[in-house]
Amino acid sequence: MTVLLAGGAGYIGSHTAVELLNAGHEVVIADDYSNSCPEAVNRIEELTGKKVVSYEADVKDAEAVRKIFAENKIDCVIHFAGLKAVGESVQQPVRYYRNNIDTTLTLLECMKEAGVHRFVFSSSATVYGEENKIPYVETMKRGSCSNPYGWTKVMMEEILEDAAKADPELTVVLLRYFNPIGAHESGRIGEDPQGIPNNLMPYIAQVAVGRRDHLTIFGDDYPTPDGTCRRDYIHVMDLADGHVRAVNYAKDAKGVTVFNLGTGTPYSVLDIVHTFEDANGIKIAYEMGPRRAGDLPEFWADSNKATQVLSWEAKRNLQDMCRDTWNWQKQNPNGYRQGLGEDK
Ligand code: NAD
Ligand code: WQD
Repeated sequence: MTVLLAGGAGYIGSHTAVELLNAGHEVVIADDYSNSCPEAVNRIEELTGKKVVSYEADVKDAEAVRKIFAENKIDCVIHFAGLKAVGESVQQPVRYYRNNIDTTLTLLECMKEAGVHRFVFSSSATVYGEENKIPYVETMKRGSCSNPYGWTKVMMEEILEDAAKADPELTVVLLRYFNPIGAHESGRIGEDPQGIPNNLMPYIAQVAVGRRDHLTIFGDDYPTPDGTCRRDYIHVMDLADGHVRAVNYAKDAKGVTVFNLGTGTPYSVLDIVHTFEDANGIKIAYEMGPRRAGDLPEFWADSNKATQVLSWEAKRNLQDMCRDTWNWQKQNPNGYRQGLGEDK
């Protein structure tokens, strides 16, 4: 199949592109590079030895997206293009709602015009909100979110469900990711946040490489075994494999199907710090700080549905995630950007 990856130059999109190409699919990338670099596309080609058609395009822009559908015979769309910084979404809610929801609407409209019927969506564990019991199962109702970013995911899931209800030809796969970390084992592609990282693993990697002085752990008084929050961290290559299976599944599926993609095993912030240290032989300086607003004490996935329906399971463990993150970071201390001094 030919798969359009909206936001395909980003962290999860670039790893998925490699796995799709390795599985024999063709890949078209549309990205405005608002949170990524064209260099990621070069590296995807380098890793796979295959050509990727790429467009610098804002996928809110219907003209730009129409052109992509006119120039390529797309069989399936994966929608990664979104803004994802939780704290920033509280400061700039309108920008988040505009970007995340408009990209989805534009893609749906242009797909309909072009006769493309398969849509795989980057959703998130955040849609389970604060009310559900753990582990999270796909049959649970969506909960209420503590921030606009989370609400965009809830709203986009609802939009996609309504669209599929009204159009029996439309197939939608909602992939709810838990906490993706790690990098391709080559260290050629990886997570490259702009500015100060919001997420734990890139922050640790930047402390390890000397870009940050120390990690602040947001709270050690949670009702968890060591007092720090627990999450379901998943290797980005396992996540990428989940997308390949979802694309194959979408070929013959009908309606909307939801899959959790997590390992089912929670690890605490301290587990991550100590495993990173053990796996890589590096000390991570850290100090305890106050809780971060909106953080839940712990959650993890029940991913049995993905195992049963997609024959998918996470194969890589936390050591692999920590080793591959460091392999990427040490080879690319400033991510895809050359030189020092660009980040704050
Ligand atoms: P990312 O920022 O690395 O990738 C998103 C890509 O979309 C970037 O390359 C960015 O430049 C592009 N983009 C944003 N708005 C665009 C627009 N209007 N037009 C074209 N391109 C646009 O993020 P990621 O971690 O790869 O996440 C991919 C998707 O997965 C996002 O939708 C995110 O919300 C979702 N998700 C991520 C996580 C996570 O922890 N990384 C967890 C759950 C869900
Ligand atoms: C993990 C743990 C922090 C940074 C977010 C989004 C979620 C999803 C994945 C997209 C927490 C702690 C972090 C630091 C720390 N994204 N931490 N010091 O918050 O579980 O999930 O990314 O959908 O929607 O909310 O991930 O990596 O930010 O935090 O102590 O400098 O690490 O408190 O316990 P989170 P995270």
